Amino acid sequence: MQGLEISISGKKLLISKAHFLQKLTKPMALYICQMKILMVCLGNICRSPLAEGILQSKANKLGLPIQVDSAGTANYHVGEAPHHSSQLVAKQNGVDISQQKCRQFKKTDFENFDKIYVMDSSNYSDVKRMASHYFNANKIDLILNELYPHENREVPDPWYGGMEDFKKVYKMLDDTCEVIIKKYLAAQQQQQ
Ligand code: 4NP
Repeated sequence: MQGLEISISGKKLLISKAHFLQKLTKPMALYICQMKILMVCLGNICRSPLAEGILQSKANKLGLPIQVDSAGTANYHVGEAPHHSSQLVAKQNGVDISQQKCRQFKKTDFENFDKIYVMDSSNYSDVKRMASHYFNANKIDLILNELYPHENREVPDPWYGGMEDFKKVYKMLDDTCEVIIKKYLAAQQQQQ
């Protein structure tokens, strides 16, 4: 893995890129990282926190300069941690999302992120309406279109469901995030 040389008070330190990226606070990472991805659902407590955690964890493991955030189109749960079933299914798969805090989508997210993934078509139309003239169709897509191109499939909302529904959502998001990472790696290789 490629190392990064940093200088602190004249002393030079060599650290791994993965370690450096993991130590950054979210605002710093959003500023520095090469690729910024936002996951959006309705409440930002069930689906998009899982999508954020899964993709961030895959990127961190590979030391990729990708920063992931998530938001909801609604403001019902602003400031809250993810749903306990999302936290549980993530934990069962080795992903910690307990430190995430719900926030609402804002129109300037279209300026601050390279890509915005929504979970379903109503998230898409809500984002389009909320973003107004900031909306950019080239930056937004249904996340499952990465796994099933052009099919416009949706990640079902597990809010009224049980643990089995959260597990199904986890699997869908894990499979599609794997494709996102593979596409990113392929694009990086083409640039070299
Ligand atoms: P999410 O699920 O959009 O996947 O976070 C929901 C969470 C909360 C509500 C609806 C959906 N709610 O109505 O409070």
